[in-house]
Amino acid sequence: MCGIVGYIGRRDVAPLLLEGLQRLEYRGYDSAGIVITGKSGELRTVKAKGRVRDLEARVPKRFAGTTGIAHTRWATHGAPSDANAHPHADAAGAVSIVHNGIIDNASELRARLTAEGTVFASETDTEVLAHLIARSQADTLEQKVSEALRSIEGTYGLAVLHRDFPDRIVVARNGSPVVLGIGEKEMFVASDVAALVAHTRQVVTLADGEMATLKADDFRTYTTEGSRTTATPTTVEWEAESYDMGGHDTYMHKEIAEQAEAVDRVLRGRIDDKFATVHLGGLNLDPREARSVRRIKILGCGTSYHAGQIGAQLIEELARIPADAEPASEFRYRNPVVDPDTLYVAVSQSGETYDVLAAVQELKRKGARVLGVVNVVGSAIAREADGGTYVHAGPEVCVVSTKCFTNTVVAFALLALHLGRIRDLSVADGRRIIEGLRRLPGQIDEILKAEPEIKRLALHFADAKSMLFIGRVRGYPVAREASLKLKEVSYIHAEAYPASELKHGPLALVEPAMPTVAIVPDDELLEKNRAALEEIKARSGRILAVAHQEQEKADHTIIVPKNEDELDPILMGIPLQLFAYHTALALGRDIDKPRNLAKSVTVE
Ligand code: G6P
Repeated sequence: MCGIVGYIGRRDVAPLLLEGLQRLEYRGYDSAGIVITGKSGELRTVKAKGRVRDLEARVPKRFAGTTGIAHTRWATHGAPSDANAHPHADAAGAVSIVHNGIIDNASELRARLTAEGTVFASETDTEVLAHLIARSQADTLEQKVSEALRSIEGTYGLAVLHRDFPDRIVVARNGSPVVLGIGEKEMFVASDVAALVAHTRQVVTLADGEMATLKADDFRTYTTEGSRTTATPTTVEWEAESYDMGGHDTYMHKEIAEQAEAVDRVLRGRIDDKFATVHLGGLNLDPREARSVRRIKILGCGTSYHAGQIGAQLIEELARIPADAEPASEFRYRNPVVDPDTLYVAVSQSGETYDVLAAVQELKRKGARVLGVVNVVGSAIAREADGGTYVHAGPEVCVVSTKCFTNTVVAFALLALHLGRIRDLSVADGRRIIEGLRRLPGQIDEILKAEPEIKRLALHFADAKSMLFIGRVRGYPVAREASLKLKEVSYIHAEAYPASELKHGPLALVEPAMPTVAIVPDDELLEKNRAALEEIKARSGRILAVAHQEQEKADHTIIVPKNEDELDPILMGIPLQLFAYHTALALGRDIDKPRNLAKSVTVE
């Protein structure tokens, strides 16, 4: 969740690193720091609590150098402060290090080092590593770093500078992403391609247990034990411009607005009209294997978990394979029964969420087959999985996920259709779903046109202290995701409940001060949903419905275009993304970086 960026080459390094940090700020942002190799080889460090702009204000005018590393931090060990900000150094200032991840045995090591006379300057786990590297008697920086890494347990993505080895940056990865950017007589390193693409699109993603040495005109990769590995650069398909705000005031708004285009991208080149199915080249699942799948288990966290819940319903409806979704964070701790006939699907925008990755590794260890539904190409989960499909949403910068959620659900619709057509879904139903999928981009644009009206409704409800979100079957995961969106970005308490469970508890909460948002699709459950609205109305509850037609019992209805019943959930959440956005805006929230949250959670 923290961000790393580093550079070695000929250019003035400080402005490059500060710009890189700004691009990474969305990952974590309570403090930041930078270290460069000065003219006579000395390491010069500046750190600041707060945002990257606070750091920038502290960087002295004369801060020249062509090698450096920098970091944005999201506190785990030790409160946000100047002292706890990275980089961390040993007492003599020979070694400087930036680190993402958590060192599990840090307190043990700290106690040992303290007993041996080491004085610590911060409360962080990372500082332990700086001291260990500095104390190493090995000859090369590479050996010093790998020796230090052998005595720690935990996860890391890290970059190291050493006063005595000014011609290089040494980096290492275990559980926290590290990407090398390969330039012309210059090299970059970052925890996220976002920090690199403005300069180079040739990248090498390190694997767990891999290290690299970057020099201005050369790089090499090797394992922590020192054996060389082969690294072939790949080209990042995302353009630098796709990280810009493109005329919007926030990334969230931009990302909501570009959903039609994003959905178009996930569909492109995949539809096979002749056989009324779709091609998903990366699944690595032949028809015979696909037919032998008896269950599907989907694992993800946060918004991706909700996308997985809709995905499970799509798979059950279209492919008639029993399917369900579970938070990966829960799954991995309950000693799950791993069944050879179950296909496991890991869902993750970043492809780096630690709990999801750990679940995938546990499953693989037990011999399960795991597919990934992932946005970031080459990410850890994508690489660890046996196959899968990319969701092609393009980079998502806002901490709260919008376009990636939509694209992930569409990717699940494709997977469900593919599996369905291998099994019992008819050609006619296959065609019906394909036509529905093709209508989505136009219908999304239509929904987005209602923004002024949705904004008005958001202002109307923005004084609520708490809101209830209800939906039934297909509408329930939509309600859950909409409720998550509202609480993440506006900090209004929101709770999602199946509409069918209303009278088993939440009805007690209903009163004018507790508005309800109801998902009311025109499907076989319409009458049941209407009955729920009546129950709420009878208790003087205020209702905002998202429906395919005006709802008499609701105080306000947002009407969305009708698609096929199975695909309606894809559309019904979109107006509620705008609703959450405008509520947060009215309340003056930090929309792209809500308090306490991070885009990518690469620690437990
Ligand atoms: C964090 C983010 C959420 C995201 C979740 C899973 O909690 O704040 O927006 O849904 O991680 O992330 P992933 O990258 O695995 O989809």
